[in-house]
Amino acid sequence: MSSTVIIGAQWGDEGKGKIIDIFAQEADIIVRYQGGNNAGHTIVIDEKEFILHLIPSGILREDKVCVIGHGVVLNPEAFLRELEYLKVNGVNVSGRVYISEMTHLIMPYHLYIDSASEKEYKIGTTMRGVGPAYEDKIGRHGIRAIDLLNMDMFKEKLKRNLKMKSHVLGNMFDYDQILEEYLMFGEILKEYIKDTTLFLSESLKNGKKLLFEGAQGTLLDIDYGTYPFVTSSNASVGGVCTGTGIPPNKIDKIIGITKAYSTRVGEGPFPTELHGEFGEEVRKKGNEYGATTGRPRRCGWFDAVALRYSARVNGFDSLVITKLDVLSHLETIKIGVGYKYKGQILNEFSHDLNVLNGCEPVYEELPGWMQDISGVRSFDEFPQQAKDYLKRLSDLTETKIDLVSVGAERTQTVWM
Ligand code: IMP
Repeated sequence: MSSTVIIGAQWGDEGKGKIIDIFAQEADIIVRYQGGNNAGHTIVIDEKEFILHLIPSGILREDKVCVIGHGVVLNPEAFLRELEYLKVNGVNVSGRVYISEMTHLIMPYHLYIDSASEKEYKIGTTMRGVGPAYEDKIGRHGIRAIDLLNMDMFKEKLKRNLKMKSHVLGNMFDYDQILEEYLMFGEILKEYIKDTTLFLSESLKNGKKLLFEGAQGTLLDIDYGTYPFVTSSNASVGGVCTGTGIPPNKIDKIIGITKAYSTRVGEGPFPTELHGEFGEEVRKKGNEYGATTGRPRRCGWFDAVALRYSARVNGFDSLVITKLDVLSHLETIKIGVGYKYKGQILNEFSHDLNVLNGCEPVYEELPGWMQDISGVRSFDEFPQQAKDYLKRLSDLTETKIDLVSVGAERTQTVWM
């Protein structure tokens, strides 16, 4: 496969970091196509944990090149902090990271606007300024990485943006201070900024293998997600083309990552959410706390309706199931197979928040496996109940399963 896409099939936090790291083994270049430093990808290598927010997880494999595509919004300070974090932890990053020159920058005022609008709209954002940076991009007054290479352009844009924003923010932000800071960023970042659309296209022509790393998840996608409780980019497959310059006919494989259950952080509908003690137990067992904000994640049963929808809009060729081990030692395990709303059974995901908030999930119940499976390394070693559970997930989502993860380590992986 010369280009593979890995996408979160739920509300993010599916454990993409580990899976991307595994698939990165076979790739030459790993590309982020959307989102910003709102993401939190956790990778455990020999019991050492790395958490990355912006730089593709492929950076942990030393012979790989990483690209931040222009579908991403980039906070220069966060980028430099992450580079430093990698260096301090012994990762050689030299000559291995590129930023698309068309990437839009997160500016100090975006962070402020993010937290101010949170007070009104209560989306539960990560407060990293991601949404407001995309607003400026779509509003056609965003500042791009390429502008850091042409300071006249940068100054002009900054001046106009501060003028426009002063209508709402007053004179809270100082032009000279931001200019000074971003001049410094420009000096440091210029070696990373390039036309990555050309670089990626030529790399493909030269037989290189690309891996596209999705952040967040399909149900947080600005179009397909539970709007407005979503992130501000296309986390689903379309984002790959618009966010990197790779056309759809150059994508060979699309893989969806899903947990064996469901979680979400932030506000918004979650039909199969578990409240009370049991939800708390899953949170503890699965260590379900946000990698970016530390917030406890809401936990629930696997939602096959949502997953089938996600598979449909992304065209998943296969699924990776993560954290199956977390469901061990449960007498029974439930799967959401439909939604009951106003007396009717719905089999398809809804775009109506009233339905998603007001429905009652219809559950199917399967027997659990009362043993630890974190040491399983081949499908045959799974207890029959785990095999049945996986088969049922595959049938209900109409998608085959390629890989199952049973722990955080690279090695705790079962190929199907
Ligand atoms: P934003 O992306 O910071 O604007 O936040 C919008 C919504 O997406 C909020 O519900 C966040 O909790 C959620 N979100 C953003 N990034 C992630 C992620 O990487 N994992 C899970 N949820 C996320």
